[in-house]
Amino acid sequence: MTDSGSLPSRLTAGLSGQDLAKATAGIRAATELCQDGMKLGLGSGSTAHAFVRALAERVRDGLDIVGVPTSTQTYDLASELGVPLADLNDLVELDLTIDGTDEMAPDGSMIKGGGGCLLWEKVVAKASRRVIIVADDTKLVDHLGTFPLPIEVLPFGWRSSRKQIVELLSAHGHEDPDPVLRRRGDDLVITDSGNYILDVTLGTVTDQAELTVLLNQIPGVVENGFFVGIADGVVVGRPDRSSEIIQDLADRGADRW
Ligand code: 5RP
Repeated sequence: MTDSGSLPSRLTAGLSGQDLAKATAGIRAATELCQDGMKLGLGSGSTAHAFVRALAERVRDGLDIVGVPTSTQTYDLASELGVPLADLNDLVELDLTIDGTDEMAPDGSMIKGGGGCLLWEKVVAKASRRVIIVADDTKLVDHLGTFPLPIEVLPFGWRSSRKQIVELLSAHGHEDPDPVLRRRGDDLVITDSGNYILDVTLGTVTDQAELTVLLNQIPGVVENGFFVGIADGVVVGRPDRSSEIIQDLADRGADRW
C-alpha cells in the first residue's frame, strides 16, 4: 500500500531528508492505523515521536484513544501535547503499539534500543495485539548487525555480566565482541529502570532468534535489543514524502527487501 499524498505542512515544516522520511511514516501511522477506542503503545525515538505529534492532532480533532508511553521522554511529549495516558498495569493488554527501530531485517526482526528504551519498549510491544513499526527507509537492512546491539544490564556486577556476554557471543562465531558501556558525554547512561546499557557491534547477524533467548539467560542481563517475532508490519517513509505500509511481515518469507 503505497501513498504519496500530501502531509499536514505544520508537522513537516522545515524538515528534509531522513527527518522528513521519519515524519512521513509517523503521520501515516497516526492517520491510517489509529481508531476510536484503541489502547495504544506509544514508542520512543524521533520517528515514534513524529507519530505521537500527529496522533495528538487527531486527539485534538476528537479521536478517542488512550496511550501507554514506552519511556519518560515519550511520557513527557505525549502529556505536553494532551494525549490521554494510562498505566500499563491498569490496561494489561493493548490493541496496537507504534514504535520505531534502529534496523529491521526482511523477516521483521529488529535491533532496537538506540534511544536506550528497549526494556519498556519490549514490555509494551509484547502486551500489544499488534505492533507496527514506523521507519525511514534507511532502517531496512538485509541483515541485522551494523547498528550496535544494546543490552540493558543491572549496575550490580555488570562487569561479570559483560564477561559472560563476550563468552556467549564468541561461542556463536562473533569475533572479538567488545561491549561498551554507553555514555552521554562524561556521564553513564542510566535507563528509565535505573540500569546500564552495553552496546556491542556484531557485524552480520543471522542468529538473532537464538541470541535473544540466550543473552537474557545471563544473570544481570535485563533485556537485549533484538526484537524477534514482535513486529507485524512496518510503515516506511521516504524523503520524497512517499510511504508504504507492509503488513504481515512474518508471513513474507523474504530474505531481501
Ligand atoms: C529507542 C528505539 C528507537 O525506536 C530507535 O532508536 C529509533 O530511533 P529514531 O526513530 O530516532 O531513529 O528503539 O530505544
